[in-house]
Amino acid sequence: MEKAFTTFLLTLLWLHYVMVNSDMTQTNITTDQLALLYLKSQIISDPFHFFNESWPPATSVCHWVGVTCGSRHQRVKSLHLSNMALTDRIPRELGNLTFLVSLDMERNNFHGNLPQEMTHLHRLKFLNLSFNRFSGEVPSWFGLLHQLQVLNLGNNSFTGSIPSSFSNISKLETLNLKLNSIEGQIPKVIGILSIQVNQLMGSIPFTIFNISRIKVIAFVENSLSGYLPYGLCNDLSIIKGLYLSTNKLRGHMPTNLSSCSQLQILSLSDNEFDGPIHSEIGRLSNLQMLYLGFNHFKGIFLSYECSYVIASKFYFITQ
Ligand SMILES: *[C@@H]1O[C@H](CO)[C@@H](O)[C@H](O)[C@H]1NC(C)=O
Ligand SMILES: *[C@@H]1O[C@H](CO)[C@@H](O)[C@H](O)[C@H]1NC(C)=O
Ligand SMILES: *[C@@H]1O[C@H](CO)[C@@H](O)[C@H](O)[C@H]1NC(C)=O
Ligand SMILES: *[C@@H]1O[C@H](CO)[C@@H](O)[C@H](O)[C@H]1NC(C)=O
Ligand SMILES: *[C@@H]1O[C@H](CO)[C@@H](O)[C@H](O)[C@H]1NC(C)=O
Ligand SMILES: *[C@@H]1O[C@H](CO)[C@@H](O)[C@H](O)[C@H]1NC(C)=O
Ligand SMILES: *[C@@H]1O[C@H](CO)[C@@H](O)[C@H](O)[C@H]1NC(C)=O
Ligand SMILES: *[C@@H]1O[C@H](CO)[C@@H](O)[C@H](O)[C@H]1NC(C)=O
Repeated sequence: MEKAFTTFLLTLLWLHYVMVNSDMTQTNITTDQLALLYLKSQIISDPFHFFNESWPPATSVCHWVGVTCGSRHQRVKSLHLSNMALTDRIPRELGNLTFLVSLDMERNNFHGNLPQEMTHLHRLKFLNLSFNRFSGEVPSWFGLLHQLQVLNLGNNSFTGSIPSSFSNISKLETLNLKLNSIEGQIPKVIGILSIQVNQLMGSIPFTIFNISRIKVIAFVENSLSGYLPYGLCNDLSIIKGLYLSTNKLRGHMPTNLSSCSQLQILSLSDNEFDGPIHSEIGRLSNLQMLYLGFNHFKGIFLSYECSYVIASKFYFITQ
């Protein structure tokens, strides 16, 4: 009886060991090399002969150009292939780079859908795929990449709306979806949120101004309608840039700006705002740029304090 129990305990310990170490026992740097060779083998166009010249098969993968390995595990930690005019797809095997922290493929001709195997990249913090031709819906499985801090999918052909799973990426600081075909409503997330030149509709959820870690909101050139909240920021607000130009927003300018003390750039031009421009604006001591042109504002109500601010501290741009 006692012996059986000991055996049982030892089996449990062994299982625990296998599970904890599975990353190390089942895959190694050879796995990473195979994944990268797969990426290389699928290439359609490589005008600068990057792969042939910079990834020599006889050299260790950790010495390939654009590849960095971590010193502790000797596994590929970052892959940076920006601006190489590469035409390629991301193969499923790329999901085998399970130690990857940073992936930058900016400014190439990568295309097709992102493979779901990328969910295995659970250490990934930085992903820059901007200026490529990726297509398909913005994958909801991004919500499984809990370490993600920067996600840049700008200037691609992604469609659909922003998946609700994004609210699960609690460390996400920058989400850039600029220049895609994203439609639908705005999620309530993130620190720097850039969804410019898309087809966002509806009103801006007021709660977005209430997220204390949000620094920049950029929704330029969408079809947003509705109003702005009367008090734009909350007491903990650190918002520095608010870019809302070229939408269909209406109503008066927010008058309670007392908590927007960090605000440096406020861009409301090319909307349907009306009513007066209040002197409250002049109390924003950090404001540097104020864009109000192409609206229906009537009259400027400036106090002495405010004219001084305008003359000396920031540009007031109405066109
Ligand atoms: C990686 O693991 C495989 C077996 O899974 C082994 O054949 C290979 O030699 C290992 N490579 C290195 C560099 O340790
Ligand atoms: C890379 O080199 C191989 C032979 O060494 C050649 O067949 C292939 O066309 C080259 N690819 C490119 C993109 O230059
Ligand atoms: C890498 O990934 C592919 C597809 O996801 C899988 O079939 C393969 O077994 C993996 N290879 C290694 C060496 O882990
Ligand atoms: C990521 O993409 C943007 C383009 O949208 C680029 O400006 C930036 O330098 C890229 N790399 C990093 C490290 O952010
Ligand atoms: C988007 O990227 C394409 C190339 O992929 C480029 O031709 C185009 O000018 C870019 N658009 C903008 C607005 O930067
Ligand atoms: C967010 O994560 C929780 C648990 O981690 C999960 O139950 C839930 O389904 C996820 N939500 C979305 C929208 O993915
Ligand atoms: C903003 O946050 C405060 C406190 O966390 C809460 O009382 C208030 O209802 C929130 N406002 C909005 C518009 O979400
Ligand atoms: C202005 O907003 C702040 C918080 O953002 C609030 O404490 C204050 O009561 C508001 N003032 C008015 C007059 O509503």
